[in-house]
Amino acid sequence: MQRLQGKIALITGASSGIGQAAARLFASEGACVVLAARRGAELQAVAAQIVDAGGQAAWLAGDVRDEPYAQALVALAIERFGGLDIAFNNAGTLGTLIPTPQLDAQAWRETLDTNLSAAFLGAKHQIPAMLARGGGSLIFTSTFVGYTVGFPGTAAYAASKSGLIGLTQALAAEFGPHAIRVNALLPGGTQTPMAEAMNDTPEALAQVAQMHALKRLARPEELARAALFLASEDAGFMTGSAMLVDGGMSINRS
Ligand SMILES: NC(=O)c1ccc[n+]([C@@H]2O[C@H](COP(=O)([O-])OP(=O)(O)OC[C@H]3O[C@@H](n4cnc5c(N)ncnc54)[C@H](OP(=O)(O)O)[C@@H]3O)[C@@H](O)[C@H]2O)c1
Repeated sequence: MQRLQGKIALITGASSGIGQAAARLFASEGACVVLAARRGAELQAVAAQIVDAGGQAAWLAGDVRDEPYAQALVALAIERFGGLDIAFNNAGTLGTLIPTPQLDAQAWRETLDTNLSAAFLGAKHQIPAMLARGGGSLIFTSTFVGYTVGFPGTAAYAASKSGLIGLTQALAAEFGPHAIRVNALLPGGTQTPMAEAMNDTPEALAQVAQMHALKRLARPEELARAALFLASEDAGFMTGSAMLVDGGMSINRS
């Protein structure tokens, strides 16, 4: 039994990493997927692989900070597949990681716009489409950074990502009566271009791996499976949660 049979899912950040893995997994579980990110060639390649594997995929390149793009993605889901049931708002940026007194306001705003305001814009346009289907599942990719762990030099990233948890709780309360579940996914260190950009030597990556109880980073597919859980009826009574999938990063002291 495919867990997303008959469902239509929008995934942002689908050109890379966790979002790309989720796009493949959701499609293999029966969902029609709409793929979003700025890099069209990458989206096209992922969509082609999904279609070659027997799935259904559409893509549209754009910047999640732009409200017309948020609208256009929902319109594409409706036009191509007939509606929207699931939105995995996963696109994100580390932004500028420097001591806070050196962080200029523009860099702060860029991180907040990409990680937090874009999630609001996405949800704003996704929710009416879900209401028209009688419910749905919204997922935001947050992180342990700014939730269970404070790291120096991450003020904008941490603030934007913990802001997503507040957004999750507010939307869960607002739309629970309408059968829309809203949850945040909090990955630990995950082997993606983002993690490699933050830790640009094998030694630095190994050091981050050691911070996790499991002494390794996650594979993107492991986060995709967690997103699938939140998207599916397996998580039917779960809403308003911040779900740590962090390999024990938050509890580890060894
Ligand atoms: N990797 C980790 O260790 C880790 C840990 C905790 C949380 N996370 C979170 O997980 C999410 C996915 O990250 P990842 O690790 O998979 O990194 P990634 O491989 O670098 O993927 C980031 C994705 O976000 C998209 N994106 C970034 N800015 C965008 C914009 N303005 N408009 C549209 N798309 C944009 C990128 O696509 P384009 O470049 O094509 O636009 C890309 O598809 C992020 O929200 C990140 O903060 C990651």
